[in-house]
Amino acid sequence: MSHQNSTTWQALLNHKDVIKSSTLRQLFADDAQRVEQFTVRSCGMVLDYSKNKITQETQSLLLQLAQEKQLKHAIESMFKGQMINTTEQRSVGHVHLREPQAKAKHPEVHQVLAKMYQFVEAVISGTHLGYTRKQITDVVSIGIGGSFLGPKIVSEALKPYQKTGLKGHFVANIDGTAIYDKLQKLNPETTLFIIASKSFTTQETLTNAQTARKWFLEQATEEAIAQHFVAISSQVDKAQQFGIDADHIFPMWDWVGGRYSLWSAIGLPIALLIGTENFQQLLAGAHSMDEHFYSAPFEQNIPVLLGLIGIWNSNFLNAASHVLLPYDHDLRALPGYIQQLDMESNGKSVQHDGTPVSCDTGPIIWGSEGTNGQHAFHQLLHQGTRFVSVDFILPRKSHRPCQAHHEILASHCFAQSQALMQGLTYDEALQALSGSTQATVEQKQLAKHKMMPGDKPSNTLLIDQVTPATLGALIAAYEHKTYVQGVIWGINSFDQWGVELGKQLGHHILQQIRGEIPSDTQQDSSTTELIKLFKEK
Ligand code: F6P
Repeated sequence: MSHQNSTTWQALLNHKDVIKSSTLRQLFADDAQRVEQFTVRSCGMVLDYSKNKITQETQSLLLQLAQEKQLKHAIESMFKGQMINTTEQRSVGHVHLREPQAKAKHPEVHQVLAKMYQFVEAVISGTHLGYTRKQITDVVSIGIGGSFLGPKIVSEALKPYQKTGLKGHFVANIDGTAIYDKLQKLNPETTLFIIASKSFTTQETLTNAQTARKWFLEQATEEAIAQHFVAISSQVDKAQQFGIDADHIFPMWDWVGGRYSLWSAIGLPIALLIGTENFQQLLAGAHSMDEHFYSAPFEQNIPVLLGLIGIWNSNFLNAASHVLLPYDHDLRALPGYIQQLDMESNGKSVQHDGTPVSCDTGPIIWGSEGTNGQHAFHQLLHQGTRFVSVDFILPRKSHRPCQAHHEILASHCFAQSQALMQGLTYDEALQALSGSTQATVEQKQLAKHKMMPGDKPSNTLLIDQVTPATLGALIAAYEHKTYVQGVIWGINSFDQWGVELGKQLGHHILQQIRGEIPSDTQQDSSTTELIKLFKEK
């Protein structure tokens, strides 16, 4: 159904004009209770969404939209394991990866987890040794996309929990620099390689895996591969063909999307670095968010509110993009993770039935850690012509004994959302410059450059502390937010056909680069010339 035909969508469009006549500064001045109305708490976090340009009426209309789009039913369908990934004929089961064993919908999940935990314990304790009977010291995970980003950001974010003594490394890019530089620093006798690929066909991963294998065999024998190479895949036979010992293949399933897979065996590098108990806490935290998402009323439901507010900002207030600003060094890679989650899920232009969507879908997601961004791109957020919505993420407690730093960090985080919200009027800028109403011509001129429009929306997610449990809950909240938006837009958030064409063309171009096929006379002249220039001696 076209969004233009939705009565609630139309009502929101009309409501936007009412909202536009006010400012966020005014909304706060008018209502002392505003922050209480627009704050929710659950799963070790507080979401303050009061600095969005909304009123109770906006929220009611957005909740009505959710009802009209049958969001409740859509959530139930996902949890029941219905085939909601319609173009790939698959159910979508990441929530079942973190269910406690007692209520597991898929018992095989716990079988694989048990196998994984056993392996982790063996490596950590030294029962599983390298081919020269030395203890494993380094774990190199080779994978890309969802088989890379989740394990990397989670292990990085949980650095204070990395106490198993193993050192983690991640290689994703096909650029040989990534694997080459990494291998220079490693000792094959004490290195474990994890080949993570759901499909076990991804060119980058298989090429890097072959390079690692070749490097390993320069010093070790074929038999030693069994101790040093393990795989995670839904294509167990392909992993075996690669030469991985059957005992060391950790299966996953086609109902687990790559970008939703860190909770499966894809999380093996995480478990090796933070230990099995912490990994279980990560799953438990995500599960607590699943329960909240499933059962909390929508007006108190963190992922639902994040999703609906995001729709309001991008579809109605025309935010050009959405920026994630974690004020936490350990969470610095989170924006990159959410970028794949959101943009690969909701970067779609057709609805489930194949008809074009009639509104914008997934926003451009970007971001980096605070306060670094304040000295880089925040200028555009405050005074640029483009309007960007923001998620601030801040843990209340740091793991490091640096309370003075943490207080300053928090003050910047809160000041940024305040500045974006309230801005600075021309009169305020002039007053600050002149100290009186008698301003000079130069001061009046400068005030025009110093004034800031404000009225920029933001959410603030305050987490108790970055622990395995709160991190699990935070990531699960973003997964569900993504689904909420996909449901409202009527799109399939679980396929990614858009990445396929480039892969096919890349294959054809590689054959031309290698001279395996002649230059393609049918192809565009730019590509032909680029290949020619690349090959020039
Ligand atoms: O090309 C996109 C993609 O399919 C992602 O969705 C996925 O996470 C990534 O590639 C890696 O895929 P695989 O785990 O099958 O190697």
